Amino acid sequence: MIRKLALMAAAIAASYAATLAQATSNLHLIPRPQEITAGAGHFQWTSHTPILTSRSFKNIAELIATQGQPVKVLGEKNNPAVAGAVRILPADARLVPDYNGYLLKVNPSGVAIYAHNAAGAISAAQTLLQLRLIQPDTNFIPAVTITDKPRFGHRGVMLDVSRTFYPVAYIKRFLDLMWLYKMNTFHWHLTDGAGWRLEIKQFPELTKTAAWRYGNTWKDWAATGHRYAREGDPNAYGGYYSQDQAREIVAYAAKRGIAVIPEIEMPGHSEEVLAVYPQLSCSGIPYKNSEYCLGNDQTFDFLEKVLTEVMAIFPSPYIHIGGDEANKSAWKTCPKCQQRIKSENLRDVDELQSYAIRRMERFLKAHHRHLLGWDEILEGGLAPDATVMSWRGETGGIAAAKAGHDVIMTPGAYCYFDHYQADPATQPEAQGGYVPLEKVYSYNPVPATLSASEAKHILGVQANIWTELIPHAAHLEYMTYPRLIALSEVAWSDTARKNFEDFKARLQSHYLLLQRLNVNYFRPSYTVTIVPQINYQSKQTTVTFTSEQYRPAIRYTMDGSTPTAASTLYTGPFTFSGPALISAAVFRDSLAQGTPSRLEADFHKAVGKSVHYHLPYSKNYPAQKESTLTNGYRGGVSYGDGQWQGFESHDMDVTVDMGSSQPLNDVSLNFMQLTGVGIYLPATVTIAVSQDGTDFRTLEQQQNDIPDNIPALTFRKFTFQLKGQQARYIRIQAQNAQKGFLFADEIIVH
Ligand code: ACM
Repeated sequence: MIRKLALMAAAIAASYAATLAQATSNLHLIPRPQEITAGAGHFQWTSHTPILTSRSFKNIAELIATQGQPVKVLGEKNNPAVAGAVRILPADARLVPDYNGYLLKVNPSGVAIYAHNAAGAISAAQTLLQLRLIQPDTNFIPAVTITDKPRFGHRGVMLDVSRTFYPVAYIKRFLDLMWLYKMNTFHWHLTDGAGWRLEIKQFPELTKTAAWRYGNTWKDWAATGHRYAREGDPNAYGGYYSQDQAREIVAYAAKRGIAVIPEIEMPGHSEEVLAVYPQLSCSGIPYKNSEYCLGNDQTFDFLEKVLTEVMAIFPSPYIHIGGDEANKSAWKTCPKCQQRIKSENLRDVDELQSYAIRRMERFLKAHHRHLLGWDEILEGGLAPDATVMSWRGETGGIAAAKAGHDVIMTPGAYCYFDHYQADPATQPEAQGGYVPLEKVYSYNPVPATLSASEAKHILGVQANIWTELIPHAAHLEYMTYPRLIALSEVAWSDTARKNFEDFKARLQSHYLLLQRLNVNYFRPSYTVTIVPQINYQSKQTTVTFTSEQYRPAIRYTMDGSTPTAASTLYTGPFTFSGPALISAAVFRDSLAQGTPSRLEADFHKAVGKSVHYHLPYSKNYPAQKESTLTNGYRGGVSYGDGQWQGFESHDMDVTVDMGSSQPLNDVSLNFMQLTGVGIYLPATVTIAVSQDGTDFRTLEQQQNDIPDNIPALTFRKFTFQLKGQQARYIRIQAQNAQKGFLFADEIIVH
């Protein structure tokens, strides 16, 4: 009797769970599949669910059997559906049109995966696993039919393990997480000035010394003079992967369909090598150079021996040789480098670098590998078959694709996950740029300027995670998620299937997944982004608010006062004329979340007026070029947002032509300071006015009163009271005392 009751209770519980799951089944997959059709009911997943597979997909069946489910290899023919099983079967072109695609069918009676190859079957396995992890009850998988294929073949993540060392166990977890989002390439940045991380048997000093340093964090190390230590020294920080461990990672990744591309830096970023093998540098002295001497054949002998061991570990068709940010100055005076330039008929040090890269390419090619490098390898001429990783914007990638080279897009403004993902005032210190979730999501790796045939050279897209300011794994996850989830859709889904609002809705379910896997992800920001749109004809401004929050309640004021629960609720874009100081915040339970965002909107008297530059703005930070300072748009928290104009290593010196002589009440302008990336406030700002554009009267000079040694993002507004003085021309001179960058956004005139 008691037993019967218990059985009844269990049956009721199971039926209740099924009903609950049914009511809340979730198809919010990321990246978004090509075609997805919901079915009726659920497949019940248990620890006994048999995984039946054709022989070629046995590895993949083992990945699906996460709880040790029985895996059975099917015979070659006659494999009828087995109730309650998952089957993985070869596809034909009718079922799965794309060679790298898959078909996944989930029915209450079973699951079937069809694919042509391992890549397709792995993608299906990822979808199935993700589908489980976003359900309220992971044992009930909703019925669905999915036909899917990737947009790009290269869906990469680069991890810098030099600045911060991550042990093998963590690398595996990192791979597991990126795997869930169909990222299929792990670019392993194994060497850099902050530590060499791979055992090379012929050069033991690389791991006895160059892999160890004084200073646990990159910042401590940098602050204490970049010194290397010895392995075993109790004060040494560092580590390296033995060749066996590296092979273990390669095999672990390969089973999951992830290619591992090793990067061995040359000719720059090599301080650690030259500290232990100084004979490979131009000076021959440790701690002096970061570049190899390219006139010395020993350098090439060393690099070839290193790469020979690297190729024996990594089966990757691509070997990344770095190539970025070499300081070429030592080569200019080094007798050996100059001799090389002469004997090889090279024009300059750019061509000397190109010579070295070509020489490495010949070596790699002889071993049937392709050379991959950062976009600086274009300088002095690209090696014949090199593939380019475009990181300094897209320019290098576009040039390479037009010249018929393959390209991987990884521009800083979209793909650098070491940059801030929210208002820097609310975040742990990061690299200066601003790459929030929506920015990542908005990226299209195929530039519009490429023809269809050139566009075929864009192999894909990649996130780069440099770890100078990411000193441990929890912080790495904080910087990586959810931005990598946004990039996964950039890499996988066709543009036509992309929509940020829809993505955000699906992302809500992935916060659950990340919590289930104990990922220390960045919680969506409460910051309200205020986007103005100026109509120059009507002199009106239309404002739109966005937020990473899902369906946020945003309240705002237009007089600069702090928004409260009684302030106007935002319902959609609105238009106004005249000046306004907009302040907006996300509200939850009548409470403002975080600091309100503010925007000064003002169709002031200088809007649309021409600006003459006595000294040029920075070519790298032109913002909106000549229109920037009088276009009515203010800059936000990022110097890269297209409204902050840079002035590099010299003063800012500009004149605004107001078009006619008129009374001027006040003139103001804002500057930004972010010392970590070399942006400073001007020491002084001087204003002068003129009626004819020749004869200027200096009215006032103001001093900066904010120190230049605070790391926090800081703004300083300089305001000049002109009290109705009559003038047509206004000249502003801002003194660049540090010879770094000045950044200004708008000259506001009333
Ligand atoms: C790079 O960010 N230096 C490639």
